[in-house]
Amino acid sequence: MPQIAIVRTVADLRAKVRAWKASGERVALVPTMGALHDGHLSLVTLAKTKAERVVASVFVNPTQFGPNEDFDAYPRGEARDAELLDSVGCDLLYAPSVAEMYPPGFSTTVSVTGVSEPLDGAARPGHFAGVATVVTKLLMQCGPDVAVFGEKDYQQLQVIKRFVRDLDIPVEILGAPTSRLEDGLARSSRNAYLSEAEREVAGRMNLALADAVRRLKAGESVERVEATGRAALERAGFQRIDYFEVRNADDLSHPGPGPLEVSARVLAAAVIGKTRLIDNMAV
Ligand code: PAJ
Repeated sequence: MPQIAIVRTVADLRAKVRAWKASGERVALVPTMGALHDGHLSLVTLAKTKAERVVASVFVNPTQFGPNEDFDAYPRGEARDAELLDSVGCDLLYAPSVAEMYPPGFSTTVSVTGVSEPLDGAARPGHFAGVATVVTKLLMQCGPDVAVFGEKDYQQLQVIKRFVRDLDIPVEILGAPTSRLEDGLARSSRNAYLSEAEREVAGRMNLALADAVRRLKAGESVERVEATGRAALERAGFQRIDYFEVRNADDLSHPGPGPLEVSARVLAAAVIGKTRLIDNMAV
């Protein structure tokens, strides 16, 4: 049986955090949508090195899913999530209802221009406004000293860093490295959707990204590397490739077609069967 305390309202969350801060403890927040795996747990473990208390939130945020996306099918299981969080020493699970997060009359959206426009912003209209709005709310509700997000969702991390700076939200945003399975596939709640055959295909995305990083370091042009990467995903069996692109690491602008001169990131998104997978690597 899980020992971890669970709160479901903003008022209860604030009471817990207020008590910790009153006794001089630092508080970290790890926002998630549940269906927890070792990648999520690695964020909690990192958070524990930055603060005395760690709050994890589990909220499947309806506003960041498109009309044809997997909101209803998204895996849910609070008891298992609570046990896993407890096993890594998380102090509190915040699991609000949709009505607590978006009461009747809710009318406000946080939307970020620039960094949220290319890549997943283009492929999933409205997605980053949904993420930015709910993460703003989670940060205002909890008031943590530090919040931890995975580099697995690299564009999301950059969007969050941007609006936290722009809105002067008093929190440190920390990025955590991507946790991977034995063949390099990035851990993801959506991996649960994959059949055995699809799982094989999925494991090729990280290889294509690693190959792109090698080619860029060897001085190959951005244009060639992107074309080679897209071809590799097609050959591997992905049915639709949303993007395979090299971008400037900080603002995700395009570095130009030639050899790289800036710090960059290679990012990919592709669909296998009904499952859309994303991954990225530093150059
Ligand atoms: P979710 O997909 O559940 O991810 C929660 C956090 O875990 C995110 O910061 C994500 O980047 C991180 N994460 C996921 N897989 C990871 C892996 N393999 N290695 C390291 N970190 C990983 O991202 C969201 O939820 C939502 O958009 C959220 C930020 C909670 C807003 O609703």
